[in-house]
Order: sequence, then structure tokens, then C-alpha cells
Amino acid sequence: MRYRVTHRSAAARPGLTQVRNLFLYIWLAALAALSAYYLYRAIDYRFLHADRLGPSLFNKQLWYFSHMLLALPVVFGAPLQFLPALRQSVPRVHRWIGRTYVVGASGAAILAIYLGATSEFEESRLSIVITGVLWLFFTLAAWRSAVTRNYVAHRAFMLRSYTLALVLVWLRVMYDFQDYLFFYVQGEQARDGTREWASWVIPLLVVEFWISWLPQVRPNKSFKPRPLRGSA
Ligand code: HEM
Repeated sequence: MRYRVTHRSAAARPGLTQVRNLFLYIWLAALAALSAYYLYRAIDYRFLHADRLGPSLFNKQLWYFSHMLLALPVVFGAPLQFLPALRQSVPRVHRWIGRTYVVGASGAAILAIYLGATSEFEESRLSIVITGVLWLFFTLAAWRSAVTRNYVAHRAFMLRSYTLALVLVWLRVMYDFQDYLFFYVQGEQARDGTREWASWVIPLLVVEFWISWLPQVRPNKSFKPRPLRGSA
């Protein structure tokens, strides 16, 4: 008897799954290391130098501090959430880290909206507020879809939420390489504004391309096209 193999899932090819997991571990470790490095730089910039924290406790100081504290479980919890081994072997740990992520990210996003709306850099205000609102929405949507056991939507919204959380990294990477990335924008203020928008629009577009658009244009053998209503 002869079999014609047209399509085999990754689950049926253990070697491929192992290679994929290896790449995933390397990528998550790199993101965790980058996050720790840029978090250190952000803390150093805002908290370890005099006169950068705002005028008084309730005028910025407390909000900077709370935003940073709430975002900590996001930085260190999120990479663990994408580890297949952790999800499968100890799902309770996955759920507890997830709850901490939702509380931390939601609080940090609300404070980011406030800090962004009142930022001294006017060219950045709208961009930060939109990022904060989207970050909050993606986080709550990820939580909601987990509760209703819609795991496809849960995965997609977690990816979006974590992508926006990593604005912490993207913004500073773009700052470090701005002479190459934004050489065509000469004005300092215009460059700051461009960087602020690019730091979340580009990563989000890349993620949408990967999780939403690409799957729709890939050949799907089980899909049977139906004529439009009213057509011959
Ligand atoms: C896990 C993710 C994040 C961590 C750990 C984090 C941490 C921090 C830290 C340590 C600061 C103080 C340093 C500074 O002012 O530059 C800060 C400030 C700030 N963050 Fe975040 N952040 C995260 C994500 C975000 C996101 C996604 C947004 C945008 C919605 C955001 C908006 C802001 C704003 C507006 C400020 C104040 C900047 C200023 O006043 O110049 N953060 N964050």
C-alpha cells in the first residue's frame, strides 16, 4: 500500500517541534535579557538622578513608582507564560503568573495613560495614550478569552499585550540606533515623535502580520470557497 503524504502537522514531527521550541527558548531568553537591561536603564534614568521624579509625591512621583512596580511582573512573568513545558506540566503556575500579569499590566497601562497624557513632550502624548489604551484592552481581552476558554483568542491577545509591554525595550533600542533608523528625520523633536510612534506601531504590525494576516493568505486545504450571494 502506498501513502501520499500531503500535510503533516508539527505534532507528528517531533524533530520539528524540538527545533521550534529551541528557537522559542532562545528568543524568550533574549527578550528577558533585553528587558532586564533596558529596565535597569529606565530606573537609572528616572529614579537614580536628582530632579527627574516630578515636583511632589502626588504630582508624578508616586505614579512613576507605581507604574514601574506594577510592570515588574510583566517583565519577568510574561516570558515564562510562553513556555509550552510550563503550561503543560504545571498549569496552576501558568494561571497564577497570568493573574499577576493581568493585574500588573492593567495598572501599569492606566498609569502609563496618565503619565503619557501629562508628558512634557507634547509630540509623544497621543502616541503614548493610544499605546496605553491598546495595552489595557489587549490585556483584558486576553484575560476574558482565557476565562471563557477561547484559547486561540487568548494566545493572540497575550501576544499583542506582551508586544506592547515591550515598548519598554523597542523604544530604547530605537533610541540607541536612531542615527541609522531615523537618519531621514533631522529635527530633534520630529525624530522623538517619529520614534515614539514607530516603537509600538511597527512591532504590532509585525505581530499582526504573523498571527492574523499570514494565516489568511496561506493555502488552506480544508477551505471550500462559496460563491457570493447573488452571483452566478
Ligand atoms: C513591562 C513594561 C514596562 C516597564 C517595566 C516600564 C517601566 C517604566 C519605568 C522604569 C519608567 C521610568 C523611566 C522613564 O521615565 O523613562 C517608565 C516611565 C514611563 N512609562 Fe513605562 N514601563 C513599561 C511599559 C510601558 C508602556 C507599554 C507604556 C506606554 C503605554 C509606558 C509608558 C510610560 C510613560 C509615559 C512613562 C513616563 C515617561 C516620561 O514621563 O518621560 N510604559 N516606565
